This record gives sequence, structure tokens and C-alpha cells, in this order.
Amino acid sequence: MTTVSPTPQPAMQLRELIFGAACAAAVRAAARLGVADALGERPTTAEELATAVRAEARPLDRLLRTLSCYGIFAETDDGKYVHTDMSRLLREDNPHSLRYISLWCTEPWTWDAWPRLDEAVRSGSNVFEGLYGKGFFQYLHQDAPESAEVFDRAMTTSSKQSAQDIAQLLDLTGASSVADIGGGQGHVLASLLEKYPSMQGTLLDLPTVVANPDPRLREGGALASRVRIVPGDCRQEIPVQADVYIIKNILEWDDESTRRTLHNVVGAARPGARVVVIENLVDDSPSMKFTTAMDLLLLLNVGGAKHTRASLVSRMTDAGLKVGELRVVNPYLHAFECTVPE
Ligand SMILES: C[S@@+](CC[C@H](N)C(=O)[O-])C[C@H]1O[C@@H](n2cnc3c(N)ncnc32)[C@H](O)[C@@H]1O
Repeated sequence: MTTVSPTPQPAMQLRELIFGAACAAAVRAAARLGVADALGERPTTAEELATAVRAEARPLDRLLRTLSCYGIFAETDDGKYVHTDMSRLLREDNPHSLRYISLWCTEPWTWDAWPRLDEAVRSGSNVFEGLYGKGFFQYLHQDAPESAEVFDRAMTTSSKQSAQDIAQLLDLTGASSVADIGGGQGHVLASLLEKYPSMQGTLLDLPTVVANPDPRLREGGALASRVRIVPGDCRQEIPVQADVYIIKNILEWDDESTRRTLHNVVGAARPGARVVVIENLVDDSPSMKFTTAMDLLLLLNVGGAKHTRASLVSRMTDAGLKVGELRVVNPYLHAFECTVPE
């Protein structure tokens, strides 16, 4: 029998890392096939799973064997498969599901963009426009509706998971209105409106995104009477008056878009208004591998970056905001409390 060293040698480690794309592709395939959803609580053969997901048994077995090497599914001694904590997160019905995040991080455009990372590092600019002849969000909404839907669902997953944390953290006592700029489908806004029953809310995002808001905000929804939905481009204009503005996971794109968005918020808000900027910080993250990878993906698609504390503070200060307290929302998110000067 081969002797296996418990710690892979550098060459072995590097060989495994070089094939990271195979792991990402395997996770994507499993998510698209719905294997985690098809696998129940009893050990199941690849043949049974193949019938359930309408695939060939032998290649499915190979896919599951690969994923099992990473702890995503596990193989029993008699060659059946069972769930692990990670594979359960690929189920759509898991309240903490990462199914759409895993699809989003491996969408077809990512496989076009990654090989050009050296180009992006040389130029400091996105490669997206060179590849597709238009900006990232324009491409998503005009040319890739399936990717746009995956993106919205991925954002919904992460927003739902963080909305409760944000609502719990933010004390909006004394405010009568709140606006979420680039608020996606409005999960953060809905959580805040549920916490404050007399608060009015505004959701601003791109037209195709706000066309499909959280059911609570839609016509007939429990919060609809207190919500105004504004389709728009926050880089052009923010025609919204509110006591509190939330800007969450927006300022990760190119500097000019960040500059214009902050400028528009400061221009729209009355003196003394609160602006809460919520971001993942690349210099304070419990998962540096995930955050730095996302930072590179942002370079590729929008010429953007995950911020450090200092880079975010300098952009907010440049826009004329008074930057106050920085608070931890959850292990991944930080909230910067700012005010528009009187
Ligand atoms: C990373 S998501 C964050 C969504 C939400 N704030 C959250 O944290 O869940 C970025 C959001 O910005 C929106 N967005 C992109 N370009 C925009 C623009 N020019 N004007 C307004 N919203 C925009 C996207 O549609 C998307 O909902």
C-alpha cells in the first residue's frame, strides 16, 4: 500500500490547487443537476441518484467521488453516497442554502473572464467590456437572463441571511423613513419595515430587479402600503428623500461608480440624514480565501474591489460624508455609520 503523508507536500498541494477549477465545476454540476436535493437521509447508490436527476450513473459516480474528496458528499464503505454538512448547503430547501451562490460564482461568463486575470492585473481594469462589448450589469440584463436570475437569487440568499442581522443591529428609533439604494429585491428593507411598523421605505435598484421584489413589498403584500419602489440607476440620480439611507454591497464596483453613487446620496439627502454603508472588508474577514477570490472576480467583471476599512473611509470622506462608528454586523459584514453634514 502507498504510504500517505498526512500533510501534502508542496508539489502535491500546488497540483491540487491548480485543479481548483475542477472542484468549482463539480460543485456547479452538482448544483445544476440537483443531486443534493435528490439525496435523502439514507445512503444511496449513484444508480438511484442518476435516475432521480436524469443522468448517467457512471459519470455521476465519478462526479460524486470527486466532490467527496473535498468533503462535499461522502462515500460509504459499500460505495453509496450520503450527505455531509457541506453537501446539505447545496439543497435548495436548506434555510442557509448556498446553491445559488455556488452557481453565481461559476456562471459561464466567469470561465471566459478568469483566463484574462493577468490582463486585468496589468491594466487594473475589468476585462468584461473587452469580452462582451458592454458593462457587466448591462450584459446580465440584456444578454444573459439566466445569469441575471441566478445573480438575483444569489443576492436574495445572502440578503435574506444578513437582513435579520442588519435589522437587529440598526437602531432607527426617531427616523420615519428608510431607503435602500441598490437594495436588490428588498429583503433588508422588508426586515427593517417589519421591525419598525410605522416606518416608510423606498427601494431603488435597476428596473428589471425591482420588477420582482420581495413578496412582502409587492402589491397586496403585508408591507406594500409603506413602500415606494423606484426603478433607476443610482449612478445617474437618486431621487429619494429619507431619514436613513442604506447602501449595502454596492460600493464594490469601479471607483467612478462609487464616487457618483455617494455623490448622488449626499446630493439627495437633507443635512443630518444618516447613511449606513454595509460591506465585507477584505482586511477583516473570517474567510480570506473567499473574500480575496471575490475581490478578484470584482476586478474582472466590474473593475471593482472589496474594500479595506481605509479605502472605504476615504471614499466616503471624499464624498463629503461625516464618517462615524464602524460596527460588526456579523462575521462577514461591517456597517459604517455616516451622516450628511448639517
Ligand atoms: C451585490 S448586489 C447587492 C444587493 C443588496 N444591496 C444586498 O446587499 O443584498 C448589487 C446590487 O446593485 C444593483 N445595481 C447594479 N447597478 C446598479 C445601478 N446602476 N443602480 C442601482 N442599482 C444597481 C444590482 O442590481 C444589485 O441588486
